[in-house]
Order: sequence, then C-alpha cells, then structure tokens
Amino acid sequence: DGGGCLSIVVLGASGDLAKKKTFPALFNLFRRGFLLSHEVYIFGYARTNISDDDLRDRIRGYLTLDNNAAQDVSKFLQLIKYVCGSYDAPQGFQCLDKEISHHEISTNTFHGSSRRLFYLALPPSVYPPVCKLIKTYCTHKSHLGGWTRIVVEKPFGKDLESAEHLSNQIGELFEEPQIYRIDHYLGKELVQNLLVLRFANRFFLPSWNRDNISSVQIVFREDFGTEGRGGYFDQYGIIRDIIQNHLLQVLCLVAMEKPISLKPEHIRDEKVKVLQSVAPPKDEEVVLGQYDGYLDDPTVPDGSNTPTFATMVLRIHNERWEGVPFVLKAGKALESRKAEIRIQFKEVPGDIFQCQKQGRNEFVIRLQPSEAMYMKLTVKKPGLEMSTAQSELDLSYGQRYQDVTIPEAYERLILDTIRGDQQHFVRRDELKAAWEIFTPLLHRIDKGELKSVSYKPGSRGPEEADELLKKVGYVQTHGY
Ligand code: BG6
Repeated sequence: DGGGCLSIVVLGASGDLAKKKTFPALFNLFRRGFLLSHEVYIFGYARTNISDDDLRDRIRGYLTLDNNAAQDVSKFLQLIKYVCGSYDAPQGFQCLDKEISHHEISTNTFHGSSRRLFYLALPPSVYPPVCKLIKTYCTHKSHLGGWTRIVVEKPFGKDLESAEHLSNQIGELFEEPQIYRIDHYLGKELVQNLLVLRFANRFFLPSWNRDNISSVQIVFREDFGTEGRGGYFDQYGIIRDIIQNHLLQVLCLVAMEKPISLKPEHIRDEKVKVLQSVAPPKDEEVVLGQYDGYLDDPTVPDGSNTPTFATMVLRIHNERWEGVPFVLKAGKALESRKAEIRIQFKEVPGDIFQCQKQGRNEFVIRLQPSEAMYMKLTVKKPGLEMSTAQSELDLSYGQRYQDVTIPEAYERLILDTIRGDQQHFVRRDELKAAWEIFTPLLHRIDKGELKSVSYKPGSRGPEEADELLKKVGYVQTHGY
C-alpha cells in the first residue's frame, strides 16, 4: 500500500478491547513481519495519566508468550508511545499530531508519504467528537501523500435512527473509503472461506438453493454469562450484541449471489441486496430468553427484560431462498461455546432404502472452536447386510493443516485496514439495511411488549427455541 511511514493510533489504549484484542493483534502482525519496525510507530491514547512504560507493562500481560517471544515482545513494546488527553478537547490531539509528525520526519525510510490509522477502541458515544478532533488536528498532511483512516467498532447505534445519525456525523468528516467498520466475525477463517466454498466448488453451485436446502441455522453459543459487562450488555442485549452484526454478516455470505468479481465493492453490493430482501422477523417466529441469575449482576437494573438468548427465523424473499427458513440463534451462559452454520437438505425423493428416518444430509461449517467442515451423509453400513447408516465426510482444520497457525480475526482485519482492503468491513448501506431488519422487533422488546423466558445457565436455552426449530421443519438427526 505505497509504503512509507505508518502511524497506528489506538484510542482508548487503556481499555479492555485495546488490551485484549488490538495490541495483541498488532503484536502478532509485528511477529509475522507485517509491521516493519523502521517504518511503524504505535501510539496509545487515553485519558489516564500514565507513562509509556506503564502502558507497555499493561500490554505485556496480554501478549501470548512462547519460548522465542521475549525478544520480540521488548522490540514490539519499544514501538509504543503513550499520549494522554481527553476525547473532547483539542489539546491532546494537537499533542498527538506533534508526536506523529515528529516520528514521520525522523523516520529514515520516510518517502514523503504519511499513513495514519486511527483505531477507535472507544464507546460509540465519543466517536463524533473524536472523529472531529482527528479531522481537525491529526489528518495526514495532504501535500505529503498517504492517507488517514478510521477504524470503528460496534455497536454502531442502537436502532436504525441512531445508527443513521452516527453515520451522518462521521460521514460529514470522512469519506466512506476512509471508514472501516469492524465486525470481527468477518475476520474468522471459516467465514472468509465461505465465498471460496460456495463459488469455487461445482458440488455446491447447483444445490445451494430452495430446491435442495430445507433450512439454514446460524448459531452462536457461549458458556459464560455477561461477567462484568452487565452494564454495557443490558443496554444492548443479545440481538444487538451478536445477531444484528455477527450472525447477520454470516447469513449474507451464505445467502448472497455470486459477485461479478472479488472487488470489495462488488462483494458488498451483493450483501446489501440480500439484506434488502430480508423481512423483519415476525413475533411468532422469535423466542427470547434470559438466564437465571442475570439480574443478580449489580450493574444490571432490577427487573430488566433484556434478552441474553434469542432464536428467530429470518425469511429471504428472493428467487433462490423463498420459503427457506434462516434460523439465527445466539445465547450466553449456555452449555457450550460454539459457533456454526448448519445447512440441512431436503429429503431424497423416492426413498428406496427407507433411510430418511435416520437423518437428512447436512453440511456443517464450524467457525469455532476447532474450525471444521463436515457433510453428514448416508452410506451403506459396512458389512454383509444392505443397510444404511449416517456417516460424515470430515475436514478438521487442526488435523489437515497442522503446520498453519490460523490468524486471529483482529490480526487479519487490522492488516486489511493498513492495506486499504474494505472487503471484510461493513459498508454504510449494509449497516442501514441490517438495522432495518431488526429495529421493529428491538423497539417492541424495549417497550416490554415481548418478554424473555427464563432458562438455566449451562442449559441449551429455552425449550421454546427447539420447538420453533421443529416448527419450521428442522429434522434432528439421530445416532450422530
Ligand atoms: C463480541 C460481543 O462482539 O463478540 C461479545 O460483544 C462476545 O459479547 C464476542 O462475547 C464473541 O466473540 P468470539 O470471537 O469469541 O466468538
């Protein structure tokens, strides 16, 4: 991407996201040789008055260390400098600009171009003032060439109106190609694999439609509750936290038409079309749950109706998918941690083996843990008898790709922001279409018109969710 001096500014440097995700991802990129120390400088910015070394010590605790890491860690930490300032006054940003410019001038390989990446690991309420201050004081000097880019994290608003308001505010300051809205599910290996799988394999081309597929499930489970994040979580709930973004993005990649090329704009055009074909879910196809004990969190208001679990059916009204239920399911404090896509096929017509009762064909893509894809199919049971059994074709990444370390989602996405590749980021019109789907439902939940049922922590969630699945035609496979 042009090369030259690169300044990465992490705003909210002492917060959780920065420590747990952003800095470790930068460290991994550094170790893989993507951030060259003679070109790169990393600035942490926050309100707390601490020294460079204090910040480095805090970050050190979050870096995964192996035997060879010690030297890399200290080299990496040396690239980090701390700037203290507020999020609503010029002074800190003037100071930041001075530091960045100083670095740009003193960098030996400085080819005259200045690349400035601002990662907002901050609550969205401060995005507008921070973007304004970056724009006014810290953008690269255009006569030098280069770029200024902004990386933002969800939640982008709470409903259609607030999201549009936020988009307008940021949009007045920066052009769309400068804005990188992160949805970290788009950085996961098997999510990135979806396009290849669908459009580079002849197997799937003719079967990926309403004629063959009976249902699609996109499922997210976590085996822990809101733990310390109750205050944040309660204002959002599971639909805004997981379904409206992570699961819906996966749905787009499963359901979209083939883009005319791999250009980010072509891919995102297709995603928008799918989103615009999705109808808001109907009340009778939504189950909400809240785990017992959620209200004991002192940061959660008494009597909160916020769902920590939701299952819902989305309907895509287009030629490929009319009539196929897309079931999105997400829950906290469930029996296991897992994210997967489960595609169930219709019955084989004319079942001469009488084997349909054993189960239908399914194609499962497990995003985590232990990335894998497997196809459940019917085979002849080995032996003398002509009987059938369910089996599977299994591609487990851990076994097949033993010598590859699968990169963390944040690592890839940050690299993309440096390279200027927006394919795996959410475009403004995608965001709007996503909010259009969920806003009516969210408003009803906020008004208390739809209630969450309770479920036991460590369970599968409310039984009503399994019943809904059955109602839309999902057939549980036995003996698998
Ligand atoms: C975040 C949510 O976006 O994703 C969290 O805010 C959730 O509530 C997390 O725990 C899950 O991410 P992953 O990559 O662990 O599935």
